Amino acid sequence: MKNYNIQFDKNGRLRHFLTIEGLKRQLLVDILDTAESFSGVTAQSIKKVPLLRGKTVVNLFFEPSTRTRTTFELAAKRLSADVLNINVTASATTKGETLLDTLHNLQAMHCDMFVVRHDRGGAAHFIAQHAAPHISVINAGDGRHAHPTQAMLDMFTIRRHKKEFAKLNVAIVGDILHSRVARSQIHALTTLGVNEVRVIGPETLIPCEVETLGVHVYHDLREGLRDVDVIIMLRLQHERMKGALLPSEHEYFCLYGLTEEKLAYAKPDVIVMHPGPINRGVEIDSSVADGPRSVILEQVTHGIAVRMAIMSMVLSGSSSIPLSIRPPGMAEVPKTQEQLSGKANSEGEII
Ligand code: CP
Repeated sequence: MKNYNIQFDKNGRLRHFLTIEGLKRQLLVDILDTAESFSGVTAQSIKKVPLLRGKTVVNLFFEPSTRTRTTFELAAKRLSADVLNINVTASATTKGETLLDTLHNLQAMHCDMFVVRHDRGGAAHFIAQHAAPHISVINAGDGRHAHPTQAMLDMFTIRRHKKEFAKLNVAIVGDILHSRVARSQIHALTTLGVNEVRVIGPETLIPCEVETLGVHVYHDLREGLRDVDVIIMLRLQHERMKGALLPSEHEYFCLYGLTEEKLAYAKPDVIVMHPGPINRGVEIDSSVADGPRSVILEQVTHGIAVRMAIMSMVLSGSSSIPLSIRPPGMAEVPKTQEQLSGKANSEGEII
């Protein structure tokens, strides 16, 4: 699980995107900058660029998903890739085929990328370890371990509203214990250098020693929200809970549900985020979810550009996106190893 090097090829370029833990700040900034350029593409009347023309992306989802699966599909199509959506409940895994055999069969169809969601932590790493050398794997959420593309779209949304990470106090509220999103957000926020990350929730839903990740723990919501710039609400992940960790959803809402009264403890220009799916009246009141401070649906929109950025970076060899097909307004990108050593021209083509 702690093998971060697997994310890079022998030239140090991003090949898989499995976890944010251990990634450098500059790489996260590169992803956000690249996504900024792609967000222009998604606003054009023709929402396509040919960056991944001829590539085949497989969405391999062993767990339900609305936002992640569809925005990965849209992102791949806007990059001109062919997309296969594997319906796992209708696939041969229900007849006893192992994950590895499924992988080998899909590889035999000359696919280029697997986007993997699985209820077991480490599933995407496992696939990346066993995948053929030309294949890239993106983790679309594994157990309670990581959801790195969600965290990156959240960072993108925060940067759109708040500009400088260093000045921000960010509160993550709710079921931190079972949340892969919270873990990836904490790594992203601390790597990007925010002033303070707070995690807020009942003792039963805060992991032991979470402070070692560089966060401060609060059990009182009003106290924890005082003067924060960003609030990220999480749902109760009943599907991963073992035993009764809460007296009732009603009591949880009274103590930790975000209402307009509790929102008033944060800064006046606070933004309210939620990765979805939201449970109204459990962790968030509808008046807040649909209110003027909410950016929840913006997060969904930004998911497309951020996933386009990550897919193009892993499949085209980091940031080596040729000028000729770079979307209008796309920022200058760092040179590749081949360009630096004179083996490739300025367009990234090997010479
Ligand atoms: N945020 C998120 O992962 O939502 P889905 O489960 O709908 O993909």
